[in-house]
Amino acid sequence: MLTGGGDCPALNAVIRAVVRTIHNHGGESYGFLEGWRGAIEGNAIPLKALETDEIIAKGGTILGSSRTNPYKKQESIEKLRQSFARLGFDALVAIGGDDTLGVAKKLYEDFKFPVVGVPKTIDNDLECTDFTFGFDTSINIVMEAVDRLRTTAESHRRVIVVETMGRHAGWIACFAGIATAADYVLIPEEEVNVDEMCNVLKKRREAGKKYGLVIASEGAKLPQEGLVTEDAEVDDFGHVRLGGLGKTVADLIERRTGIETRHVILGHLQRGGPPSAYDRVLGTRLGIHAARLVLNREFGMMVALRGLKIAHDTLANAVGKSRFLDLEFMREAEEFYKNV
Ligand code: F6P
Repeated sequence: MLTGGGDCPALNAVIRAVVRTIHNHGGESYGFLEGWRGAIEGNAIPLKALETDEIIAKGGTILGSSRTNPYKKQESIEKLRQSFARLGFDALVAIGGDDTLGVAKKLYEDFKFPVVGVPKTIDNDLECTDFTFGFDTSINIVMEAVDRLRTTAESHRRVIVVETMGRHAGWIACFAGIATAADYVLIPEEEVNVDEMCNVLKKRREAGKKYGLVIASEGAKLPQEGLVTEDAEVDDFGHVRLGGLGKTVADLIERRTGIETRHVILGHLQRGGPPSAYDRVLGTRLGIHAARLVLNREFGMMVALRGLKIAHDTLANAVGKSRFLDLEFMREAEEFYKNV
């Protein structure tokens, strides 16, 4: 197996579940290091069932990850296929987001490569699955941070803008906003209503509320402005590095309302540390079902959460469809923005 793309809590729960399930059926498991880079180089380590129990509580991925795209260079694909054959592996479980699973889909389409996918991302922006593991831990991290920021904001009668991850989807920001009673939430799916945001903050201050909390998803856009990025670089899959919207919004709020405002960019804190129980259970279940697809030699498939069940679908069907925030959640959250 391999873990590709942005890491997230509970990746190791998936790894453990695949190793244990394959072991229970007399098989052996190996892990490619650093995502597709390890698969290209044939850089694999053995994974023993009895050594994996403690990793369920460990954040990140014991295999390492990367944003390597083997389809960037034709020779990488050939090297990957040769490495796989030389190592004598029967199947590959690819654990990742749209980029990693997109490579798995192409390998199956191009070569009937024996691959099974497991969807992963803190962004929760994959159409194929109701929730992705990593998301629950991430919103709990944001919630704990915002609960802390509330006390210092109140002590100094300030507004604090908290910038969250999520790339081009507002799932993290919206769910964390509801969980922390934030005064306003900015998401990529809807243009920011600056007047409404400043009005809510001002009216609440005038009504006696001593602080304000705004959660801004990194991919949200202010009117007439584009994405706020850290630099112009893009990764192997063409993604820009988002970051900096929080400061832009904080400066704007202070200018428009006169309320002293600060900002915090939570960044990779949202991806770190031990997984929540929900994510450990979801990751474990996905790993068991992915291993079962391997044992049944059902390739070109990926597992997914559908309601309370773990289902599976073809990679062709499931990959490449981003799932933006269901705005029903924002309409519910707005019960807390529209009135002072
Ligand atoms: O896709 C997960 C994610 O954390 C996004 O929310 C974020 O924009 C991006 O990865 C950060 O990527 P990197 O870890 O490569 O900086």
